[in-house]
Amino acid sequence: MWLNFILMSENNHTPNRYTITAALPYTNGPIHIGHLAGVYVPADIYARYLRLTGKEVAFVCGSDEHGVAISMKAKKEDVTPKEIIDKYHTIIKKSFQDFGITFDNYSRTSADVHHETASEFFKKLYEQSDFIEETTAQLYDEEAKQFLADRFVIGTCPKCGHEEAYGDQCENCGSSLNATDLINPKSTITGSTPTTKETKHWFLPLDRYEGFLREWILEGHKNDWKPNVYGQCKSWIDGGLEPRAVTRDLDWGIPVPVEGGEGKVLYVWFDAPIGYISSTKEWAEREGKDWEPYWKDENTKLVHFIGKDNIVFHCIIFPAILKSHGGYILPENVPANEFLNLEGNKLSTSKNWAVWLHEYLEEFPDMQDVLRYTLTANAPETKDNDFTWKDFQARNNNELVAILGNFINRVVVLTNKYYEGVVPAPSNFTELDRETLDTLKKYPEIISTSLERYRFREAAQEFMNLARLGNKYLADEEPWKVIKQDEERVKTIMYVALQIAAGLAVLSEPFLPFTSSKLKEILAVGSSAEETSWNDVSTKETLLTAEHKINQSQLLFRKIEDSEIQKQLDKLEAAKKANENENKVVTPQKDTITFDDFTKLDMRVGTIIEAEKMPKTKKLLVLKVDTGIDTRTIVSGIAESFKAEDIIGKKVTVLVNLAPRPLRGVESQGMILMTENKEGKLVFVNPDEDGVGNGEGIN
Ligand code: 2FM
Ligand code: ZN
Repeated sequence: MWLNFILMSENNHTPNRYTITAALPYTNGPIHIGHLAGVYVPADIYARYLRLTGKEVAFVCGSDEHGVAISMKAKKEDVTPKEIIDKYHTIIKKSFQDFGITFDNYSRTSADVHHETASEFFKKLYEQSDFIEETTAQLYDEEAKQFLADRFVIGTCPKCGHEEAYGDQCENCGSSLNATDLINPKSTITGSTPTTKETKHWFLPLDRYEGFLREWILEGHKNDWKPNVYGQCKSWIDGGLEPRAVTRDLDWGIPVPVEGGEGKVLYVWFDAPIGYISSTKEWAEREGKDWEPYWKDENTKLVHFIGKDNIVFHCIIFPAILKSHGGYILPENVPANEFLNLEGNKLSTSKNWAVWLHEYLEEFPDMQDVLRYTLTANAPETKDNDFTWKDFQARNNNELVAILGNFINRVVVLTNKYYEGVVPAPSNFTELDRETLDTLKKYPEIISTSLERYRFREAAQEFMNLARLGNKYLADEEPWKVIKQDEERVKTIMYVALQIAAGLAVLSEPFLPFTSSKLKEILAVGSSAEETSWNDVSTKETLLTAEHKINQSQLLFRKIEDSEIQKQLDKLEAAKKANENENKVVTPQKDTITFDDFTKLDMRVGTIIEAEKMPKTKKLLVLKVDTGIDTRTIVSGIAESFKAEDIIGKKVTVLVNLAPRPLRGVESQGMILMTENKEGKLVFVNPDEDGVGNGEGIN
């Protein structure tokens, strides 16, 4: 019997130790909602949840400070890469902290511990002869006198035809590429077409890992990895893995630490994932812990939170590096998300099409949870999703305010009103009371089941269902009415409602951490995981015992007004216009004409006196124009920009001596001069100066 028990618990061993990593953000710009929804919010929900269930967690991240993304930004701003990384590392780190992302450590890849760790990895693989050393022809920019790799070169993806694939990856189809695979490559430094030049590099022969990857992923994780992640891995493995260069001819990065490596650096995707290990070391050192079990003990669960463009690096390349090094565990899961769009368009740092976290925190102070909740409720878990400000407002006003806030407020206000804040003692429980308390006890497991399958949207909805249960209970029991006839019964009703409120205080922590703290303060319950843990909601007989005194109500959520949403939409509109103006291509000047050519054009001021739509056409209006010489018919292709009735009486410029031509059976006797405004709408070239009469010439 005992042996049996021991064997069973060995086999079903649930590890208590978790290493949770969140993709290291590039320090070439601040954090936006796409990063949050894809990586940091789900990772933080997961880490908080694990801590509440008593697990040992190392939740690590840091800034990704090497690679071409950084060099490019530095070139663009005409500063050093060091200045760029210092600037954005500070902004990013602070915004994560203010937003409530509970990394146990946030490091940076420029840290000494990381340079040492990454160099050690490279040397070990080098010494084991796990690299292929090869001199090959690589793309070279003669003008910039520089080899082109990664983001220094764009071209057409040979796999999907996307025209802006990078030298190491196509962000459209996710393929991992070699710069020399690109069709029509162009240097992003000078715009020129590269030549090729021979150079020596070290390659990781991924083809040698095919068997291992097949067994580990394709056979071992068919059922527990997300279909998008598994599918991408399968297609790479089935498509045939090839050796990948893990060094670069660049001047920014970790120097190649072996003979012949002078002037070369490690490929950023070789060093960045090792940054998770360096960050864990930094944390352990500070906390007086041992980092090794977090990366080497088979019972530790390693989970990488990333966006879909990072799948190949976390599922194929990094595991191959870890396997090659030896002694390291492999990820248990890589729950990569799809992408979040913003108001129907792809998020873009360079086009400023984003909601920046640091700006959000300034514009919506103390409303971290609203953004966290919206991004969770609408997370791009199985397909790309869209963030809209209207949805943000609706999630806040219709769910957080109307459901959760409303329930808590009623419970707390009534408890203070009827019992001066003291939890009343219940008497006879009705069937509904018992059922409600039983349902409450089931919630930790319901939510856990979703969380453990990385279904964060589902988990957040289940959490909100508990608040719905509370609202329904109060609406059915109507304590505010019953109080007039049966004071004793109301004590039981309020007792039950208070238990739900206390359950919400605990279970809200991963989804709404700031609200959870406030709620714990209002209910005067302990805020540490030891005092109120996730499972207490199921196992404790009562969460708030009779006689316990709660505090006064506080505002948990406030309504968001239309004007606040409009302000955000206007901001986006301004970004769009600024971007369009910046990218506007001015049509090149036409061939020179002589003065005589010009004087042949007879342009006059005229007034539109009649206008009507040409039947069965989309674009044409038939106009009668007083040109000062006569009143004539002109057919003009402006119906998509103007309604006929709006332009009667308008002063316009008319080219009167253009040879008449028939348009859809109507003879057009001239042309109205038009131009385009900033929004791409047609407008009249308008001689709207006082006292200019019809027939005046323009010259
Ligand atoms: O895609 C990115 O933003 C990368 N900086 C992610 C790196 S994740 C890790 F491996 F470091
Ligand atoms: Zn592609």
